[in-house]
Amino acid sequence: MLRVLIALALSLLAFPAAAQVEQNLAVGPAQASATSPDGRIGVTLSVDGDGRPHYAVTRDGKPLLRPSRLGFLFTDAPKLERNFAIVGHSTSKSDTSWKQPYGEWETIRDNHVELRVRFQEKKDLRRIMDMVFRLFDDGLGFRYEFPEQPNLGRANIADELTEFAFAEGGTAWWKPAFLWNREEYLYNRTRLDAVGTAQTVLTIKLDDGTHVALHEAALVDYSAMNLARTEGNTLRAALTPGAGAPKVRRDAPFATPWRTMIVAEDAPGLYMSHIVLNLNEPNKLGDVSWVKPGKFVGVWWNMIKGEWSWATGPKHGATTANVKKYIDFAAANGIPGVLVEGWNVGWDGDWFGNGKDMRFDTPVPDFDAAEIHRYARSKGVHLIGHHETGGSASHYEAQLDRAFAYAAEHGIPVVKTGYVTDAGQIERVDPDGSQHREWHEGQWMSNHHLRVVQAAAKHKVSIDVHVPIKDTGLRRTYPNWLSREGGRGMEYNAWEGKNPPEHEANMFFTQWLGGPMDFTPGVLSLTGSNGSPILSTEAKQLALYVVIYSPVQMAADTPENYAKHMDAFQFIRDVPVDWAETRVLSGAVGDHVTVVRRDRASADWYLGAITDEEARTVEVALDFLAPGRTYEAQIYRDGEDADYRTEKRHSIVIEKRRVTAADSMTLKLAPGGGQAIRFRALRR
Ligand code: NOJ
Repeated sequence: MLRVLIALALSLLAFPAAAQVEQNLAVGPAQASATSPDGRIGVTLSVDGDGRPHYAVTRDGKPLLRPSRLGFLFTDAPKLERNFAIVGHSTSKSDTSWKQPYGEWETIRDNHVELRVRFQEKKDLRRIMDMVFRLFDDGLGFRYEFPEQPNLGRANIADELTEFAFAEGGTAWWKPAFLWNREEYLYNRTRLDAVGTAQTVLTIKLDDGTHVALHEAALVDYSAMNLARTEGNTLRAALTPGAGAPKVRRDAPFATPWRTMIVAEDAPGLYMSHIVLNLNEPNKLGDVSWVKPGKFVGVWWNMIKGEWSWATGPKHGATTANVKKYIDFAAANGIPGVLVEGWNVGWDGDWFGNGKDMRFDTPVPDFDAAEIHRYARSKGVHLIGHHETGGSASHYEAQLDRAFAYAAEHGIPVVKTGYVTDAGQIERVDPDGSQHREWHEGQWMSNHHLRVVQAAAKHKVSIDVHVPIKDTGLRRTYPNWLSREGGRGMEYNAWEGKNPPEHEANMFFTQWLGGPMDFTPGVLSLTGSNGSPILSTEAKQLALYVVIYSPVQMAADTPENYAKHMDAFQFIRDVPVDWAETRVLSGAVGDHVTVVRRDRASADWYLGAITDEEARTVEVALDFLAPGRTYEAQIYRDGEDADYRTEKRHSIVIEKRRVTAADSMTLKLAPGGGQAIRFRALRR
């Protein structure tokens, strides 16, 4: 408890605005409760007749979660789940603000009430388990903390017993967990009581209209939490496995990641929550002025379509001549970055699931690294590096320092990493030479990714991970961890089984609540492999630059294709990637969303609206614009005949209008369509 009090005292010193602390360390209360700052969300922790710890959540006095179990199974010790008593609790309040170095919002408010409850077994091992709840006006997060204690030193966790027992049913959007294709599944929409085993973010619209999103924050030295339905409307944590029997191995003292629950009136309210970021530790890297958000083009789409190859040979994409063409295109269009894949030794063999030949400091002969570096610099453009590990994570770790030193020497401030192998097939080799297979979201990989971002930071390099671990807000702590994939991005539109028109409206209210995604939008040719049509209109491709938040945002199509769509491409040239403010004006999970964001570097606002396969009319009040100021609305909208199912997917109207905050607009979205608008602030 002393440690807890010291931590509390330190946090008060760090945040002088924090209000008074109420302590109740009396031994033996039957239950402990607290409410959010606005009093609407309440949590009560208790033990039942068997001494089982539970928590229950209410909103406006109405049960949201019925008493839900807490606890653990171990591989080598009795479970931690019965015979507990509450032996102490305390509450504190904190209301502070902090700044994101880049992001969707410049300033983030962290206003919460914290409830700490100490549970102790009444007999035998007398182990201690502290529950820490943080209650915000828009939801809560909680974690387990294990202080140093005699009978809980090494915790070999077989699974976590945390439950979410919803008091009523609803509709759930979820993707399956533990399958071979990792995070790359479409979202299911089912009743809550028909959810299988799901990844987070899992989003629920309860029957009374309340929206809830379950996820986690600060996934550090632990395995990812998935959710398995047990019975009725109850979900239970299901941790990602590791190579050995325990899914997590930790030594006390330690804390789990935060289990988070955003609660909102409607779908837009979910996106406006900052709970996940607020539950991460502040920046540990110090000065991060070298972390530069920005757009990029890349030697990429032609490989994904199968027209070029990563491997050397007649179809090799990353030749000096090709890369120079991309550099020219980027320079001519004010795009700062050029991604090059297939530049290094290792691609010529069977790299899928096996990256043991990959070298991250050795270019192939037809990629003249020195000349390309010189050429890019002369054009004011930088390269984005690429480290595809094929899942050979230990092999990559052995090269980290060399690899990032090479990047820094060659003017490469951002590296896209990749872990292409099936689930459960990450290759770990220990110093003693023993070989193990890990999962992308297991404890070992949670540590691997932090080793990578920390090694990169030493060389002032930032990371964009593909086939990653899910986003739990760690960009707050390690701001050079810019973005990640972690879902079905644009590449699926090159192949058979394309993303359906509802995909992005699903992603916005599920995965993208966890953080940025490198989705790689902007394929204005709207064609994948062999001329296959992408299920989108052209205007929707533009709208995605506002709808999707990512500090690194690709213009994914080729220079040749963009040359045929330069009028629409103007929006991609103009749109920033770094925002002072974001507002979700309307939306429904899986159906549609309209977002406005204010540029961090100017007074301009941008709007993105997208729909699923349904045509839709969206009314937008422009009252987010600065009052009294005139803006030029540069509108990129679906043509009257636009439709993702026909060649008219290319039908787009580009027009300009003067508007003020007193105006409103009617947006007409075609089936599979969208609309993008730049509101350019005119001189006063
Ligand atoms: C999968 C990634 O999503 C894609 O962007 C990349 O090009 C390939 N892996 C190869 O690394």
